[in-house]
Amino acid sequence: MNKDSNQKYATVHYKNYLHLDKILDAQHLRSASPDNSAAHEEMLFIIVHQSYEIWFKQIIHELESVIDLFDNHKVDERNIGTSIARLNRVIEIFQLLIEHIRIMETMTPLDFLDFRSYLFPASGFQSFQFRKIENLLGLPEKERITYGGHHYAAFFSEEEQKELHHIAIYKNLFLAIENWLERTPFLKFGDFKFLEYYKASVERMVAKEETAIKASDYLTAQQKQMRLKMMGNTDTYFESILDPIVHQQLVQEGKQRLSYDATLAALMINLYNEEPILQLPYRFLICLVDIDELLTTWRYRHAQMVRRMLGRKIGTGGSSGHDYLHHTAVKHHIFTDLHHISTLLIPRSELPELPQQLKQQLGFYYSNNA
Ligand code: HEM
Repeated sequence: MNKDSNQKYATVHYKNYLHLDKILDAQHLRSASPDNSAAHEEMLFIIVHQSYEIWFKQIIHELESVIDLFDNHKVDERNIGTSIARLNRVIEIFQLLIEHIRIMETMTPLDFLDFRSYLFPASGFQSFQFRKIENLLGLPEKERITYGGHHYAAFFSEEEQKELHHIAIYKNLFLAIENWLERTPFLKFGDFKFLEYYKASVERMVAKEETAIKASDYLTAQQKQMRLKMMGNTDTYFESILDPIVHQQLVQEGKQRLSYDATLAALMINLYNEEPILQLPYRFLICLVDIDELLTTWRYRHAQMVRRMLGRKIGTGGSSGHDYLHHTAVKHHIFTDLHHISTLLIPRSELPELPQQLKQQLGFYYSNNA
C-alpha cells in the first residue's frame, strides 16, 4: 500500500463519506425567528421533501443507465436482465414514496397552517428532478396540462429547460423501448405470417362471443344490442393492429403513440411470453407498466393528501390545487399503449401455433434443438 492510499483509508469516516455535515445542516425552518419559536411540523415537511429529492436522484441514476443500455443498435440480451433489476429497484422506490405520504399525513391541516405562509411562492411544481423523471420515462410534452398559462418548464433556468427538452425529444425510455421493439427479429420469420394467423383467430373468437350474446337467455334484446355494439368498438381496436393505415391514423389523431411495428412486437411478446426467450422482454415490459401505474398512484395519493391539507384552497405555486393535481393523475400517462395491448389478447386456446423452427429459435440456447 502506498502513502496516498494509506492516507485515504486513514481519513475515511462514516460522517465524511456521507457528507452528513452538509445533509444534517440543511433543515432551516423558515417559521423560526428571534420573536417566534419554529412551527414544530415544519421539520417534518422539510425532511419528507428532502428524502423525496434524494430518492429522485437514485431513480434518475437508474433510468439514465437503462436508457443507455438500450440506446444501442443491438441490445445485448444480458442488458435486459440488468435493466429489469434496475427498473425493479425503481418500482420499490416508488412504493416507498407512496408510503411516505402517510408520514406527511401525520401532520394535521392546522399544523400545516402554522408555517404554510412562509412557503409562498415555492411549490413541488418547481422540482426539477421530478420533471426530469417524467421526461426520462417519456411523458409527451404536448400531453401536459399547463397551469396558470405556464409551460411546466417555465420555472427553470435556460440550461435546465434545454436539458428537459433534450430528454423529452431524444433520450427517454419510451423512445428507447420503441426502437428496441421495432428491431425485434422474430416478427418476420420465414413463411410465418403471424398477422394472418392472428386475424383468423380474432375472427373466430369474435364470432364465438357474438353467438354467445345472441343465444343468451338472460339478456334482454336491448342489452344484447348494447353488448354487440360494444364488441364493435373492440373490433375497431383490432383493426389498429391488423391494418397499418388505421394504426397510422390513430397515431395522427393522438389516440395511439407506439409505432405499428413496436406495437406488433409488444403484442407477440405478450401473447407468447411463456416462450423462454420472450420471458425477459415480457418482464421488462411489465416493469414499464408497473412504473407507469405507480407514478399514477403517487399522483392520486398526493392529490388526496393535498385535498386533506388544503380543501379547495389554491396551491402555493398558484395552481387550482387538488383539481390540477387530480387532472394530472388522469392524463399524465406514459406507457398507455402497453396497457392497451390487453385489448388485443386472445385466449391461449385460440392462439396461433408457432412453427417448430421458430419455437426452437425462441427456446433457450442450451436446449437440444439449439
Ligand atoms: C402538505 C404537503 C403537501 C401539500 C399541501 C402539497 C401541495 C401541492 C400543490 C397544491 C401542488 C400543485 C402546484 C401548486 O399550486 O403549488 C403540488 C405540486 C407538486 N407537489 Fe406537492 N404538496 C405537498 C407535499 C409534497 C411532497 C412531500 C412532495 C414530494 C416531493 C410533493 C411534490 C410535488 C410535485 C412533484 C408537484 C408537481 C406535480 C405536477 O405538476 O404534476 N408535494 N403540491
